[in-house]
Amino acid sequence: MNLIVVREFRPDDVAAVAAIEAVASPDPWTPALFEGELSVLPALRHWLVACEAADDRPEVVGFVGMMFVPDDTGAHPEGHVMNVAVRPDRKRQGIARRLLIEAFADALARGVEHLTLEVRVSNDPARSLYHQLGFAPVGLRPRYYPDGEDALILWAHDIQTVEFRRRLGLREAS
Ligand SMILES: CC(C)(COP(=O)(O)OP(=O)(O)OC[C@H]1O[C@@H](n2cnc3c(N)ncnc32)[C@H](O)[C@@H]1OP(=O)(O)O)[C@@H](O)C(=O)NCCC(=O)NCCS
Repeated sequence: MNLIVVREFRPDDVAAVAAIEAVASPDPWTPALFEGELSVLPALRHWLVACEAADDRPEVVGFVGMMFVPDDTGAHPEGHVMNVAVRPDRKRQGIARRLLIEAFADALARGVEHLTLEVRVSNDPARSLYHQLGFAPVGLRPRYYPDGEDALILWAHDIQTVEFRRRLGLREAS
């Protein structure tokens, strides 16, 4: 496998990200949706891409997006995984795990206390990935997706702990 670098999602990545999304999701986000996300305040969003150095020309092979939900005090106790996908020919190489770990490390640094997301009940690869990262199911949103499939609601509560950092392979906070 070529070297993978994770960096901030830039506007000129939208076409590559939307191409991955188009093959990864049954109800794909449009390029305009991704563009809109990049114009949201950085305090409320964080998007990353994974790039592979192929023939000296970096190619985007995966992405992740986080939304941060402020409370009454302006703190952001809740982080929501909005979307994550990996190019089909680069699946099962640890790229999604790496993207999520970098996104969660940033969330920890922002003071986020809890993480949540929705996942299709049939999406075994993603459910297994999130389970590995400490998420547990807490409920169901019936017919959440446009095709009528239910969403499972997952949470990772109280993430500002040594245990969660260890699970991600992160050093303890100083
Ligand atoms: C889900 C997805 C993002 C995983 O990306 P990936 O880069 O292949 O995942 P990783 O290689 O980082 O896998 C990490 C762990 O996830 C689990 N996993 C990933 N793919 C799996 C599969 N096909 N079957 C079972 N477990 C799987 C495993 O626990 C794996 O750890 P392991 O390889 O040590 O066993 C990818 O399959 C994808 O893009 N799917 C389409 C989009 C999607 O469903 N996004 C999630 C929306 S909620």
